[in-house]
Amino acid sequence: MNMYDLICAKRRGAAHSDDELAFLVAGVTDGSIPDYQLSAWLMAVCLCGMDARETASLTAHMAASGDQIDLSPLGDYTADKHSTGGVGDKTTLIVAPLAAALGCTVAKMSGRGLGHTGGTIDKLESIPGYRTEITPEEFFAQVSRIGVSVVGQTGNLAPADKKLYALRDVTATIDSIPLIASSIMSKKLAAGAKSIVLDVKIGSGAFMKTREEGEALARAMVEIGQNCGRNVRALVTNMDIPLGYAIGNALEVAEALEVLHGGGCSALREICLALATNMYSLSHNIPPEEAMARATAALDSGAALEVFRTWIAAQGGDTACVDDIAALGTAACVHTLCAPKDGYLTHMDAERIGRAAMLLGAGRATKTDTIDPHAGIRLAVRTGDRIASGEPLAQFYAADAAKFAAAEQVFLEAITIGQEKPERAPLIYTTIGN
Ligand code: URA
Repeated sequence: MNMYDLICAKRRGAAHSDDELAFLVAGVTDGSIPDYQLSAWLMAVCLCGMDARETASLTAHMAASGDQIDLSPLGDYTADKHSTGGVGDKTTLIVAPLAAALGCTVAKMSGRGLGHTGGTIDKLESIPGYRTEITPEEFFAQVSRIGVSVVGQTGNLAPADKKLYALRDVTATIDSIPLIASSIMSKKLAAGAKSIVLDVKIGSGAFMKTREEGEALARAMVEIGQNCGRNVRALVTNMDIPLGYAIGNALEVAEALEVLHGGGCSALREICLALATNMYSLSHNIPPEEAMARATAALDSGAALEVFRTWIAAQGGDTACVDDIAALGTAACVHTLCAPKDGYLTHMDAERIGRAAMLLGAGRATKTDTIDPHAGIRLAVRTGDRIASGEPLAQFYAADAAKFAAAEQVFLEAITIGQEKPERAPLIYTTIGN
């Protein structure tokens, strides 16, 4: 077997055998297949695709290419969630303690943000003292004791995906459904949860721009997970506007706390309730309506807030912010951006708004950039709201006022103010899976 023949076969549109994919993943992992051959193969997959069997086989081999976390000592209710990435997506901060309050076991690994999308680990690090790196022993002991821990991804989870993802990034081969599905699911399978709820985002701030593409990706991921013996469900949700009002790390922790206190943005609350409900109903095998009633009660009673407090304290975080959001601190400079004219906010390009927040210091352009935890944007209005000329559109937060001009220009290019009230798009388009 050799890589040249695999490239030729894929270029002709042939399907690979399981042995061929095992050979490929082994060669990626030990470095024996050169990048130029892998790049050619990735492009052939982008152009000719892979069927469901091949995608499942590639995923299983990538999941087995490094550490595979065995969560079985934690029991049958291990439940994970994964978002395909978006702007202002702080759902894990709410869903993890809410699902734990319902009896799910949430032993979760999360990532950092890159480009216009944020990452849960960066958000958690804006809580003073929170430790995102703890030993495996501490991780298991904490989850057994309180039902939840969220840590950064270990260095050796699906290393074959890490290598392929880096190549895809520089060879224009990111947006292929089998490659995205196998990349995401290899890490989710290796992370060990029995039940997995996927939040597949579609719209201007997401990888998948259309509903058709989003549903195809959701189906591919659900099928992989089910073939590998996991309970998987995917919600296909709207990322045409940022989720909630806050974009930026400490600002998003503050907004998550508003929801945990029973208030906050209704769209954010609705998505979080849906995700936690599905984690609970999937892991405990109970009807979604009953799961939703219990999730709503756990949020409204403050039970999820108390789990949040216990979780943050267990990982060394200062819990003063739980009762006083001001304890998170704030940026040195604040700037209010006002509407240039009257009308309805008819469109927001979520990706560009994410880029404006990045320019303020809330995100990274490259993996090595450092983040300013207090930088970001708090929207005053969202799509569909009416606004008068001179009224606030958003507040910008940065360490240095010199950053405001560039961010303001990108933000203003991201929004459209018109005279017709736009129809509200649904928040959750559909649910796929058992
Ligand atoms: N996230 C991943 O982990 N992989 C992809 O391919 C796309 C998004």
